[in-house]
This record gives sequence, structure tokens and C-alpha cells, in this order.
Amino acid sequence: MSASPGAPLLEIRALRKTFGTTEVLAGIDLSVAARELGFIIGPSGSGKSTLLRCCNRLEEPSAGEIWFEGANILAPATDLNAMRRRIGMVFQSFNLYPHLNARDNVALALVHVLRQPRQEAEARATEALRKVGLADRADARPGELSGGQQQRVAIARALALEPAIVLFDEPTSALDPELVGSVLAVLRELRSTGMTMMVVSHEMGFARGAADRVVFMESGRIIEQGPPAHIFGPDAPARIREFVASVEHR
Ligand SMILES: Nc1ncnc2c1ncn2[C@@H]1O[C@H](COP(=O)(O)OP(=O)(O)OP(=O)(O)O)[C@@H](O)[C@H]1O
Ligand SMILES: [Mg+2]
Repeated sequence: MSASPGAPLLEIRALRKTFGTTEVLAGIDLSVAARELGFIIGPSGSGKSTLLRCCNRLEEPSAGEIWFEGANILAPATDLNAMRRRIGMVFQSFNLYPHLNARDNVALALVHVLRQPRQEAEARATEALRKVGLADRADARPGELSGGQQQRVAIARALALEPAIVLFDEPTSALDPELVGSVLAVLRELRSTGMTMMVVSHEMGFARGAADRVVFMESGRIIEQGPPAHIFGPDAPARIREFVASVEHR
């Protein structure tokens, strides 16, 4: 099923999450359009990771709705495996199996979750590695790859499951500065192919140039959202300008 251009692919309504007595998400409303590259920024502890994790139920929301491909994924009957294939996630830590080469790291879920025959899974894995520019490194183990290459394997692993949207939680934060660009280049390439993405990141320069929309969160709420020209422009609320300046001068 593919959404028509501009229609919301993912729609979050009145989402709340509490841990004990701490309210971490205090009512989030957010729609993500098909083919959109959305950026989420905000100070540490503002709830960015929790928001992404709620979107494929790595965290159970306390209240609200998340609509995706025509269904509220918080409904009890949701098939979690099927949903997580369609809502891919990439983390700061790559979580690759060290004893498996890149191709097998990508093929693993295809064999075990999708029950694809090994040959077909390997062919799909090779194709996914090609999309992230690593076709020639398919036989390398994680230890033989740079951090940027390992993260691209993790992205290929998500892509191989043919997601409708990929959520990235600080995908470049664990990388040495000179390796960040290779991962951002993959995001740019994915955007040009029409992949829908939500990215939590402090890469403000990339957000300025590549994001369709930037969402600023603080204390579990969306304070402001808009095109990069607004969020990074002189008319943005003072709080956002202060935050952006603090990140850029870190
Ligand atoms: N499992 C948990 N149990 C209790 N509190 C949690 C849990 N996970 C997150 N929190 C709290 O929720 C708040 C939001 O955390 P979250 O990780 O979503 O923030 P963040 O915006 O991603 O921050 P950062 O930029 O540091 O990654 C924090 O105060 C955090 O301590
Ligand atoms: Mg986080």
C-alpha cells in the first residue's frame, strides 16, 4: 500500500508517555507526510528518543493514538513484527552481529523473520548494501568496517525489510566527525528516492539543507515546527535560536 503524495503516512495524536510519575511525552500531535524528511531537534531529555521508540512500540505509550497505513498501531491486535518491518528504526549504536559479515547481518532478519529462502535473502541483502554504497564490502565483518560503514550496514538492514518509513535516532552521534558525511550522504540519497524519514539529530547544517520540516521539542512537547528557513531563521522563537546556537558552538 502506498500513500498518495502529501497524505500523512504516520499520524500521532495526543501521545503521552509517563515513566512512574514523570511525564516524558506530554501530548504530541504530529503528522508525517509520505516522502517527507522530518528532523526532530531539542535539548537532552526533551523526549525525542521516547517519541521515536513509541512509534514502533519499543516503548508502550501511556495514551494517544498512532495511525499508520490505515490502522492505529497502538491497538491490541497489532502484529508487532509486521508493523516493525514497515516502520524501520536505526539507532546511534549499530547493533551488528560481530561474527557475521555485512551481507549476513542484513540477511538475518529476512531469513528468520520473513522466512525467506537464504539465497533470496542474500540477494536482497546485497541489493540493500548497494543502496548504501557498500556493495563491495558485503563480505566484511563489522570489525573490518569503519563506524560510518557499520552504520550504513545498519541502514541497509532496515531497508531490506522494505519499510514505508525509517526512524533514525542520532544516527551519526557515535561517529568520528570525518565519518558523519558518508551517513548523511545516504540519508540524502534515500530522500531522493522518496523514502519517508524522521531523523533525530544535532546535524543542524544537514537539517538546514535537506529537511522538509524541523520539529523542536522541549519537556515532552512540540514547541514549534516548520521549514528549516523558519526554524533556523531570524524570526524563530528566542528559545530555539538559543538552542541552535548552543549546539553549533559545542
Ligand atoms: N525507561 C525509562 N525509565 C525512566 N525514565 C526514562 C526512561 N527512558 C527515558 N526516560 C526519561 O525520559 C526523558 C526523555 O528521555 P529521552 O531519551 O526520550 O530524551 P531525548 O530527547 O532523546 O534526550 P537525548 O538528547 O539525551 O537523547 C528523560 O528525562 C529520561 O530520563
Ligand atoms: Mg535521545
